[in-house]
Amino acid sequence: MNIINARLRGREGLYRIVLEQDRIVEISPHSPTISAVSNDLDAGGNLVIAPFVEPHIHLDATLTAGDPAWNMSGTLFEGIELWGKRKAQVTHEDTKLRAKKTIDMLVEHGIQHVRTHVDVTDPTLGALRAMVEVREETRHLVDLQIVAFPQEGIESFTNGRALMEQAVELGADVVGGIPHFENTRDQGVSSIKFLMDLAERTGCLVDVHCDETDDPHSRFLEVLAEEARVRSMGARVTASHTTAMGSYDNAYCSKLFRLLKMSGINFISCPTESIHLQGRFDTYPKRRGLTRVAEIDRAGMNVCFAQDSIVDPWYPLGNGNILRILEAGLHICHMLGYADLQRALDLITDNSARTLNLGERYGLEVGRPANLLLLSAPSDYEMIRTQGYALTSIRAGKVIMQRTPAKVARF
Ligand code: FE2
Repeated sequence: MNIINARLRGREGLYRIVLEQDRIVEISPHSPTISAVSNDLDAGGNLVIAPFVEPHIHLDATLTAGDPAWNMSGTLFEGIELWGKRKAQVTHEDTKLRAKKTIDMLVEHGIQHVRTHVDVTDPTLGALRAMVEVREETRHLVDLQIVAFPQEGIESFTNGRALMEQAVELGADVVGGIPHFENTRDQGVSSIKFLMDLAERTGCLVDVHCDETDDPHSRFLEVLAEEARVRSMGARVTASHTTAMGSYDNAYCSKLFRLLKMSGINFISCPTESIHLQGRFDTYPKRRGLTRVAEIDRAGMNVCFAQDSIVDPWYPLGNGNILRILEAGLHICHMLGYADLQRALDLITDNSARTLNLGERYGLEVGRPANLLLLSAPSDYEMIRTQGYALTSIRAGKVIMQRTPAKVARF
């Protein structure tokens, strides 16, 4: 299969991309003298890029909003209470069905790489076992990384450490954590040491829900970064949320940034989820409740955006469209400056792929997998401005999704 009239990010002119079986075998300047063949896909001068990435979602909780009741206050706490009730009804098949439906929504928006957190504070590890099956059964659609996520803590939950170890034995790819939720500061610190030991021992990646609060005294990020630094594991470690950083004072943050840079860890922000759940104890002025995305980016560190929830007790909206998250994030984080708009797609593509350690399994280069998207606009800026779409998604050299854009008639 060939893709013609393709515009590539960061390069002038139009290109022809040749796919053979599941690989990209040629990328060359488009030549009008080469005539199109019947199965050529014409990008029409619009962007062709590597697939979108969803680096932080909870596929075990999606599509449960309203069951058994809707979150009326919209708060994190009512969400936790409602999830406690819904969790009691979760079955193996229910988890698989909802996860697969959600993966279909992600695929329809051009996502081919997903990292999902799965709650392992469950003595049966039921959701984790279900997700390991989903990972196999959806390989033709997405590469799925599973995080062993201790929703109710590692130290504060009965047998929390053993459940984390068992989750890794059962096939989790990534070790998670939630230090700010542990009962005490000391437990938060020891949970990080435990999970970093577990990851180092087993070769797993690390992705910690870290300081997801407006509390400026929640400072587990420095502990995670220092553990990553001394173990030289930074590139394999991710701090998700870090919303407390939006409430740290600048003097502390300036010192913290020195350590963060030395550590080399990655960051994920979930802008729609955080703007919705944080700032809930404020009257006015009201905090945005996000981490310092622009500042992390400008300091040369790696940061990306994620959806976190789709129609669950914590967040009632979402349709799988990561471009919606990008647009919201750029607004909330003061990143609509011209320079930011020129490379906005980095936040849902290359930066996310780096966070997931995809390496040579990702990217529009000869020799890499034939996984790519045809988009509806010719630049990052125009994709944001026009609220563009992924029109075609190709995986292993085969079209797995095609979108027909709406047409407008003027009279
Ligand atoms: Fe999360």
